[in-house]
Amino acid sequence: MTPGSPGAEEQPVADRASAISTKNASKTFEGGTVALEKVSFEVARSQFVSILGPSGCGKSTLLRMVGGLIPADAGGEVRVLGQLQRSPSSDVGIVFQTHNMLPWITVEANIRLAAEMRGLSTSEIAERTRRILDVLKLTPYRSLFPHQLSGGMRQRAAFGQILILRPQILLLDEPFGALDALTRDQLNVELLRLWEEGKQTVILITHSIPEAVFLSDRILVMSDRPGRIIADIAIDFPRPRDPQHTRAFPEFTEHVLTLNHMMGVH
Ligand SMILES: Nc1ncnc2c1ncn2[C@@H]1O[C@H](COP(=O)(O)OP(=O)(O)OP(=O)(O)O)[C@@H](O)[C@H]1O
Ligand SMILES: [Mg+2]
Repeated sequence: MTPGSPGAEEQPVADRASAISTKNASKTFEGGTVALEKVSFEVARSQFVSILGPSGCGKSTLLRMVGGLIPADAGGEVRVLGQLQRSPSSDVGIVFQTHNMLPWITVEANIRLAAEMRGLSTSEIAERTRRILDVLKLTPYRSLFPHQLSGGMRQRAAFGQILILRPQILLLDEPFGALDALTRDQLNVELLRLWEEGKQTVILITHSIPEAVFLSDRILVMSDRPGRIIADIAIDFPRPRDPQHTRAFPEFTEHVLTLNHMMGVH
């Protein structure tokens, strides 16, 4: 510990190279379900990491632990930006599969609300809202109510609610799960553009192997429950990526085949 450091549990600033780190993070729920077993990994700042794994293996549980929504069992730890993660923090934005929009206010008002709750100034909120609507191509639909949106628009709006807070870390739990393949591909490209601009640290949970290979710097593969990390695969296609070029690399198909095999898809 360096003199004057904030406490025995905090790391000095110089050691905070990793944005996220878990050490022996396990989770047994009441009733005895062992969801995760000794999960340890580090995610460097600005890295885009995807997590693949069978249904029920503990992916959402892991994400909720990283987001500070549930604690790890005693003996394990989760750190975000060097700090032990005990409760949700403004550094971390989480996008769940089901959106959190209020049905009785417009898309624009829903996006703005997140910033209002954070207490930003009126002019800052107006500028951020304008920019988010523009980047997410929602400006023409800003006065619609959530039920009047298509699935893809609703998903973009849910991203907007998080992005307006400019979190350093984005945790995405199957955000494209309910969308058709074409909309999903389009949103993948938009997500990449946003990420290339902001270089947030991202953990994306997905069931789509090609999506994970296209987007990620790295893919973590989890075992059946209790979830453990059984593979950590670097994906080093050049960036910026675009679907046509990136998917044309022979290594793209090789990664997809390897992961298919690992996940039992034949
Ligand atoms: N709050 C809870 N209480 C009890 N058991 C839970 C709770 N949350 C999750 N579980 C159990 O923990 C296991 C892992 O669930 P989790 O939601 O993390 O899986 P997942 O990998 O995200 O699955 P999917 O791909 O289907 O979303 C499951 O067996 C689930 O039933
Ligand atoms: Mg899940």
